[in-house]
Amino acid sequence: MIVWLTGGSSGLGLHTARALRRAGHTVISGARSFEGGIAEDGRHLLPLDVTSDDSVQAFCEAALRISERVDALVQCAGILCLGSCEETSVEEYRRVMDTDFLGMVRMNRAVLPLMRAAGGGRIVMFSSINGLLGIPFESAYTAAKHAVEGYAECLQQETRPFGIQVCLVEPGDHRSGSQHTRHHAAAMSPASPYWQDYRRGTAVIRHDEANGSDPERLGEAVARLMSRRRMPGRRRVASLEQKLAVWLHDLLPTRLNNAILRDYYLRPGKAERYGAEDREEGR
Ligand SMILES: NC(=O)c1ccc[n+]([C@@H]2O[C@H](COP(=O)([O-])OP(=O)(O)OC[C@H]3O[C@@H](n4cnc5c(N)ncnc54)[C@H](OP(=O)(O)O)[C@@H]3O)[C@@H](O)[C@H]2O)c1
Repeated sequence: MIVWLTGGSSGLGLHTARALRRAGHTVISGARSFEGGIAEDGRHLLPLDVTSDDSVQAFCEAALRISERVDALVQCAGILCLGSCEETSVEEYRRVMDTDFLGMVRMNRAVLPLMRAAGGGRIVMFSSINGLLGIPFESAYTAAKHAVEGYAECLQQETRPFGIQVCLVEPGDHRSGSQHTRHHAAAMSPASPYWQDYRRGTAVIRHDEANGSDPERLGEAVARLMSRRRMPGRRRVASLEQKLAVWLHDLLPTRLNNAILRDYYLRPGKAERYGAEDREEGR
């Protein structure tokens, strides 16, 4: 199978690209930091910025010169911006939406005509547990992933007659993410009225990711999707606790659910326990 993949330079995208390659697929992988060339395992590496129409077009043209067709598109590119709803700027929201949501829209718009003409194809879109529930100080990311979830359901229904299957991958915390794609909103500082909660919440978020699931297993799970005759509409890859959190979110009244999540992320003492750091470089 010829698989195009976005966000293949680090984290879950890199693990997924390697797993797809091990499974014998031709993998053409894109990221901003790629300059071209071929990795040791045979993955093709092409420059790609999913926030730019021109870059998406250039990626597709270059990929078609390598592969002549695309059987599957796996969309992993994503960034995070941590901050309070009040203090995250519109520009900061825009940047996350442009990458995490509109980046997928751009890629799909480029690839769908090719798949329709070929009589079918597969699209895998990386959402998150945050596409299903909100947690404090991840509102930009949560909003973008909720947008991905709703959009993907529309896409699934529209593309079915053309033989195009769409699957949402919903990872829980995995110990994989690179720090250069995790930003703090510029306004988050000790002067913020949210500062104490922010330090607690971001310490828990960082701790949970650092102690999260194995990214290699997630890559293997995505690679297995390619060999299924029909992909499921959703594939949740998360710990039992995180699956339970989604289940409770759908079951409990909103106020009770919010109280549970507030307690989990913002209980006093969490920052000290998990070693909160104040504004690391590069985030
Ligand atoms: N790690 C987790 O625990 C977790 C949990 C749930 C969901 N996810 C999702 O899984 C995906 C990968 O996350 P990760 O944590 O593994 O992230 P990561 O290591 O930070 O990787 C993000 C990837 O996206 C690429 N990227 C960022 N902006 C881009 C742009 N404008 N154009 C093209 N590529 C871009 C980065 O490459 P360049 O910087 O080189 O462009 C990098 O390859 C994301 O969609 C994320 O939301 C991750």
